[in-house]
Amino acid sequence: MARTPIIIDCDPGVDDALALLLALASPDELDILGITAVAGNVTLAKTQYNAQRILTLAARADVPLHAGSASPMLIDLHTTEVHGGDGVGGAALPEPAAPLASVNGVAFLNDSLSARPGEITLCCLGPLTNPALAITNRKNVLGDARQVVMMGGSSERGNVTEHAEFNFFVDPHAARLVFLSGAELVMIGLNLTRQVPITDARIAQIAAVGTKSALAAQQMLEVYGRGDTAMHDPCVIAYLLQPELFSGHRAWVDIEVNNAEHIGQSIVKDISEAGAANALVLDKVDADGFFELLCERLGRLP
Ligand code: RIB
Ligand code: CA
Repeated sequence: MARTPIIIDCDPGVDDALALLLALASPDELDILGITAVAGNVTLAKTQYNAQRILTLAARADVPLHAGSASPMLIDLHTTEVHGGDGVGGAALPEPAAPLASVNGVAFLNDSLSARPGEITLCCLGPLTNPALAITNRKNVLGDARQVVMMGGSSERGNVTEHAEFNFFVDPHAARLVFLSGAELVMIGLNLTRQVPITDARIAQIAAVGTKSALAAQQMLEVYGRGDTAMHDPCVIAYLLQPELFSGHRAWVDIEVNNAEHIGQSIVKDISEAGAANALVLDKVDADGFFELLCERLGRLP
């Protein structure tokens, strides 16, 4: 089976960390060309450090990690405490075994996508600042991606405000640029990810896997799982590994960037209403199948 070349843009973040572990545990299906870190859940210094430690935990410090943007395009950074002050629930993760590959993740995105048009899947797990800055460098850069699969937005209520989901709230201008880019987009929003909630039973299922990576996941989830959270980011990777677990519909998605009360809201209109579509919006997932996949892959890691 041909391996899918991917780049993962992330803001670890506990659910980002689980998504990275799921991807790192799947080398037969996914060829991870590189990872780019972005400011979001916590500052860039912490997200890049956490990504380095997850790579080390999975014994994959060979995967190049690039630091991206330290702040949203136009507004100040809004972080969150739901992942703990360090961004990974205070879990005992190893110190990085490898340095950053570069401090210009945006250039890495531009260069990689331009060099292999139509081949690379870009997985976005945080605010869309890095891909949006890549667009400002070359307007059609995301059109060179095979597809852009993102965790973000919601066709229902938000999780930062009533209307906005965190990734699109943190950088609404970046999100709007990406949805206007003409790229092949797959939006995995809260309306879907809330179908895979983090419960004590699910944490116990993960812990029972028994590997160091699974036990680290348990530590992270015991902090992160307390709030209005779910297995948001790992759904992006699971979609690449087993798309049959998911279903959705094509729609036109626009991002509110003017109305202060609705800033960052993803306004989703079915193709029948909008007359056109710019994204595949996923809206159903087999939660049991998702957790079975996650646990089986965590069992493959150190
Ligand atoms: O709203 C959930 C999203 O925001 C997830 O990607 C989480 O990690 C945060 O980045
Ligand atoms: Ca994230």
